[in-house]
Amino acid sequence: MNDFDRKYWQNRYLEKKIGWNIGYISTPIKAYVNQLEDKNLNILIPGGGNSYEAEFLWKSGFKNTYILDFAKQPLENFKKRVSGFPNEQLLNHDFFESKGEFDLIIEQTFFCALNPKLRTDYVKQYFNF
Ligand SMILES: C[S@@+](CC[C@H](N)C(=O)[O-])C[C@H]1O[C@@H](n2cnc3c(N)ncnc32)[C@H](O)[C@@H]1O
Repeated sequence: MNDFDRKYWQNRYLEKKIGWNIGYISTPIKAYVNQLEDKNLNILIPGGGNSYEAEFLWKSGFKNTYILDFAKQPLENFKKRVSGFPNEQLLNHDFFESKGEFDLIIEQTFFCALNPKLRTDYVKQYFNF
């Protein structure tokens, strides 16, 4: 099994081998976001990729939405697609080395994309936010 490292993911975007990319916010996440009332929530989307949920959140008035991905390409794609989204809310970091304070973390096909040996660290990492 490869290590699913930064280079691996960046290449998947460059080669457009992104079969997971649905191109819109998933229906359950959309329904969840639509019942949120506090638009000031600090929201993190780890392993966000092209992040259609961040686009939906941003356009719905959740201005404190952050996307974290260690591959640069999807963040570049996002910048081109969603005008006005602040650069400083595009976090080009490794999830496992990140810190911050968030009220809510939303993720789509991130956990399932990690090497299974990282699953315990994944859970522990949530306590750093
Ligand atoms: C299967 S893709 C899902 C992307 C997006 N959430 C979606 O549903 O379209 C997994 C994403 O996690 C990112 N990723 C994997 N390991 C990561 C890590 N350690 N830190 C940050 N991002 C990571 C990859 O670059 C990739 O964009």
